[in-house]
Amino acid sequence: MNAIDELAAVQGVAYMDGRYMPLAEASIPILDRGFLRSDITYDALHVWKGRIFRLADHIARFRASMAGLRMSLPHTDGELAEVLMECVRRTGYRDAFIMVMCSRGVQPPGTRDPRLCRNRLYAYVQPFLWIANEEQRRDGLRMVLAKTQRIPPESLDQRIKNFHWLDLTMSLFEAYDRDATVTVLPLADGTVTEGPGFNIFIVKDGALATPDRGMFEGITRRTVTEIAADLQLRCEVRPVRAEEVAEADEIFTSTTAGGITPVTWYEGRKLGDGRPGPITTRILDLYWKRHEDDALNTPVRYDD
Ligand SMILES: Cc1ncc(COP(=O)(O)O)c(C=O)c1O
Repeated sequence: MNAIDELAAVQGVAYMDGRYMPLAEASIPILDRGFLRSDITYDALHVWKGRIFRLADHIARFRASMAGLRMSLPHTDGELAEVLMECVRRTGYRDAFIMVMCSRGVQPPGTRDPRLCRNRLYAYVQPFLWIANEEQRRDGLRMVLAKTQRIPPESLDQRIKNFHWLDLTMSLFEAYDRDATVTVLPLADGTVTEGPGFNIFIVKDGALATPDRGMFEGITRRTVTEIAADLQLRCEVRPVRAEEVAEADEIFTSTTAGGITPVTWYEGRKLGDGRPGPITTRILDLYWKRHEDDALNTPVRYDD
């Protein structure tokens, strides 16, 4: 496939600098520092059965990421929500994946001072995205502990959603080389953080744990902790050591791009009977049930 054919296969709608356009036609200026320096932040949301899941929480987190990078946009929260709504509305998709980004912008000639850039808003909507394919969702992911360490929180506050993805991306090659599908990345102190595009939970003796440091604070992760509270399951947000992952009864990942995905194989060992575990399955079902809750889901106005 050449570049034109690749783009022809892209479906969706984008928003750039006040204009809506087919996603295939959206391209950022090569001098945008978002491209040149990964000087950009973003958030990812989803639409399920015509409603945006936890819209206000995503917008609040996007704002916190922008503040963390000392970026700002002239838009109110309502205007940001409106841009996303309009992208979804124009696609007509009932199940969709939404990206919203704020880049530092184009540097004026003759300076490297990031303060002089006008921050730019980009957004796009695509059909719903699953990080795992159907077979992986049914049978579970195969995970290894990466040798690549996660960029430490002392270097980059991972609570700011960022495109410094090369540690995550290169770790995937480690997974593929070892007949696995995903990785979890450690810090130098032997605790684990997260994987390429997802948070991680372990289950041991009926209690859940998820790392508290060096990872992005996922909204799906937050939803899981709320579900665990409803189920009166112990769920600790704390340092999780790599050895604990190796000894877990169950492991699962959490992300906007597909929700909860079971891990059934870790570092060469089948977890349990090699099928998705009972607590993982219960939480997965309740995660999708949360999409019926009016308090958490904002309807898209398709007919306006
Ligand atoms: C690195 C990383 N960690 C965790 C997550 C999960 O966050 P959320 O549940 O908000 O999608 C993502 C999702 O995009 C991610 O990119």
